[in-house]
Amino acid sequence: MLIDRRETFQLGVCHYPEHWPRDRWERYAEQMRELGISYARIAEFAWSRMEPTPGVFDWGWLDESISVLQDAGLKVILCTPTATPPAWMVRMHPELLPVDREGRRRDHGGRKHYDHASPVYRFHSRRITEQLARRYGEHPAVVGWQTDNEFGCEGTTRSWGGASAARFPQWLAERYGGDISALNEAWGAVFWSQEYNDFGQIAPPNLVVELPNPSHVLDYSRFASDMVKEFQEEQVEILRRHSPGRWVTHNFMRLFSEFDHYEVVKCLDFATWDSYPTGGVEYSSLTPEEKVRWARTGHPDLVSINHDIYRGLLGDRRGCWVMEQQNGQINWAPHNPLPATGAVALWTAQAYAHGCDVVSYFRDRAATVAQELMHSGLLRHDETLDRGGEEVAALELGGRPNGDVSTPVVLLHDYESLWIHEAQPHCAESTYWDQMMLFYSALRSMGVDVDIRKPEQDLSGYRLVVVPAVQLMSKARAAHLAQVAESAHLVVGPRFAYRTETGRVHEDGQPGPMRGVLGCAFRNMDSMRPGLVCHVGGHEVGLWAESYRLTGGSAVLTFDDGPMAGEAAVVRHRNAWTVGTWSPAIVREVLATALREIGITPMDLPEGIRLSRRGGIDTWMNFNEQPTVRPDGTVMPPVSFEVVTQVDRSSPRG
Ligand code: GAL
Repeated sequence: MLIDRRETFQLGVCHYPEHWPRDRWERYAEQMRELGISYARIAEFAWSRMEPTPGVFDWGWLDESISVLQDAGLKVILCTPTATPPAWMVRMHPELLPVDREGRRRDHGGRKHYDHASPVYRFHSRRITEQLARRYGEHPAVVGWQTDNEFGCEGTTRSWGGASAARFPQWLAERYGGDISALNEAWGAVFWSQEYNDFGQIAPPNLVVELPNPSHVLDYSRFASDMVKEFQEEQVEILRRHSPGRWVTHNFMRLFSEFDHYEVVKCLDFATWDSYPTGGVEYSSLTPEEKVRWARTGHPDLVSINHDIYRGLLGDRRGCWVMEQQNGQINWAPHNPLPATGAVALWTAQAYAHGCDVVSYFRDRAATVAQELMHSGLLRHDETLDRGGEEVAALELGGRPNGDVSTPVVLLHDYESLWIHEAQPHCAESTYWDQMMLFYSALRSMGVDVDIRKPEQDLSGYRLVVVPAVQLMSKARAAHLAQVAESAHLVVGPRFAYRTETGRVHEDGQPGPMRGVLGCAFRNMDSMRPGLVCHVGGHEVGLWAESYRLTGGSAVLTFDDGPMAGEAAVVRHRNAWTVGTWSPAIVREVLATALREIGITPMDLPEGIRLSRRGGIDTWMNFNEQPTVRPDGTVMPPVSFEVVTQVDRSSPRG
């Protein structure tokens, strides 16, 4: 179902009636309405209250909570509670528990303690979903559903034993049509005598001596991703059967790697994600100085790349939401600074500017018990309105018309390439996500709005296609991209098209079937430890560099020094560029040239200043904790945004 585009941007909250005494429910619901909130998401961890003992359901509290929310005029998003199997179930069926990389069973007491492949857990997941959907599927206050909570959170996508280990051989047999020799060939299993006689001999790729075979790792990643997909599809089928006219979504996580989001999202109406900008900085690969610099605001691009990924998962402008928006300090990072004054409002505006339809805050009141008692809420422990709550109350974004983000620039993203990259980084610091950020940040710093798509999606209409880190290149993918390159400019990054779809190297080397389009072939790669550098066209290059042999293209830049001195570092062939070097300056220079050629004049935004365009609306954002002058001469106050309506551009650019 498409989101009703006539609706305007709205706010929501993650609400936990089961945490609060009954006499507070009305008051909290009213307070949320006063803050301008219209959605309440509930019950994602409440299984032990829904079914306190096996087969005995208690719906009284949930009935009452939904009607309190309804009376206050709030729309309810109901969740399946499968992120938290209750203790009775775990003790009855310990085989549903996941196994960690070291082969240890992970136990009850936290959350997400289940293996997506477990048949018994699948049974219980379907059972509770059926109960919930039958009871509330047509409740007038229930407008949509969230499945589970944050698939893969706490490292749980891949279980390394138990039910997953039992299912993996069967999955492989299906993938390879029952032909073990096809698997041996696909994996190059002759190497180190890894050849198998039977699918039943194959275990998950953990606890092996030395490295596991990367093709084995790739297939295990695909398998685990498929298990998440199946697990969710079973719930969605039940929800759709009993809850006509309601949408179904899931709350994904920031820059999350462990499953193929393009596959897992397919059965949903739209994607949502959970935005915790200060945690994102803590877990990023920014330098210690940069982490201090962005500690209280989050890094603008590390936040917005997620809006752009999730908005594009379904490919056809179906929008996205932030289902959980940090509204004060969090509790789970090594350091959890208080956000800068204005940051909660700025994050909300940024989500709006990148095409999110709803921003929903985590959480109602700060928890007074258990694991998250140091986490903020809109209300403090003592029920006074916290800093984030005050910013929400003062927000003036609601009521504005939605408009699509519409841009001629697309960045391609691919989870299988990500898994290949992670299995063999070859340079510890050169991660897939950092390589994406190298190109994404360059575009954002030039004021360019970016769509993010999977290579197989419809790319017609884009005039600049940027491919920072797509390593996996099947023949079909290559044919599609070759066709795209006939009408669009193409810029590809390091390790582009290095592998086949089973994780082998092409027999004619990188870039395999893309050689004709790029006019070059890979010569050498250089993985450099921090501090080791070389130079290209006067620019310093660190961490990763590749050189190319020309096969029709011409060298735009060559290596000035180092072992590849004199060899091509950036190659152009017709309207395609190959950039194998990690250098923000070179990436920016190439992208700026390509942008000019498609008729876009790149801006030069000061650090911390970002601009997003949506429909007829421009949103200027200042992530700096100091006043900053933007290119049009306006001085923006610290940590602030300004929404400017362009009267002469009321329809989306195309
Ligand atoms: C999210 C999670 C929430 C809560 C929050 C705390 O990852 O979905 O349930 O734990 O983090 O920041």
